Amino acid sequence: MSAQPTDFLTGEELSGGQLLELLERAVWMKANPLGSDVLARRSVALIFQRHSTRTRVSFEAGITELGGHPLLLRTEDTQLARGESIRDTAYVLSRNVAAIGIRTGPDALVRELAQHASVPVINMLTAEHHPCQALADLLTLRQEFGHLQGLKLAYVGDGNNVARSLAIVGALAGVEVAVAAPSGYQLDPVAGAQLTDDPMVAVQGANAVYTDVWVSMNDSPESAAARVEALRPYQLSDQLLAAAAPGAIALHCLPAHPGEEVTESVLYGERQRIWDQAENRRHAQKALLELLCGPR
Ligand code: CP
Repeated sequence: MSAQPTDFLTGEELSGGQLLELLERAVWMKANPLGSDVLARRSVALIFQRHSTRTRVSFEAGITELGGHPLLLRTEDTQLARGESIRDTAYVLSRNVAAIGIRTGPDALVRELAQHASVPVINMLTAEHHPCQALADLLTLRQEFGHLQGLKLAYVGDGNNVARSLAIVGALAGVEVAVAAPSGYQLDPVAGAQLTDDPMVAVQGANAVYTDVWVSMNDSPESAAARVEALRPYQLSDQLLAAAAPGAIALHCLPAHPGEEVTESVLYGERQRIWDQAENRRHAQKALLELLCGPR
């Protein structure tokens, strides 16, 4: 039996069995939104050093539904902005809350926080990883197809943190992940991901076609024009979706830029499950919080 994970930084902390159990629990959470009070009268600190809509709302609402209190910490309001160290912040938060979520840039900062914290640390997005998003995406696939093993997901566009987390967490669940990106924007080789520069190759036999913004929060504004130009052939359109497996669905972690990485007809069309993904953030993260903060 695998040990209960202490943190959730990349998704690799979970065994395949733990991931499937977590997703089953998330299905249950969705059907029973007030069914668990694992955080009753406890607080969870949420440190945001980057913008967010879905992550903040889904964590705050989910923690409340679990009986807990979400403590929003924007960097500019804390002593982090005045130079207090991550180590000292980890010590102080650990004396007061049940868990710490953090959205920031450098992965090293999150690892340092986890090293010094004595409560679970959750990565709510870094430059390299977005594992909470990948949990919600697998929950969306699980609900659409009834299973995960043997499904294929094609990711088209920028080989970014979302693509990396899908590759890592997808491999744990037996989902084949293919990433189509142009030279210079491709994902580094990670376990199980099939890499190509041809979107038509990636979507062949795919049950889901996924994309994300072309200019992410961690990309410099100066690089935007070049990124858009290079990534234009990778737009998620009805034509690309038609080349995937029959019944394939369209996914996007949002926020979307219709006309760039996704067409408006896909974003609001019949084959998208994009708004389900956004809702599933809450259910998947509640199951994660229960796993990390529940009795050991
Ligand atoms: N998908 C996602 O993480 O959305 P936010 O940036 O709005 O949190």
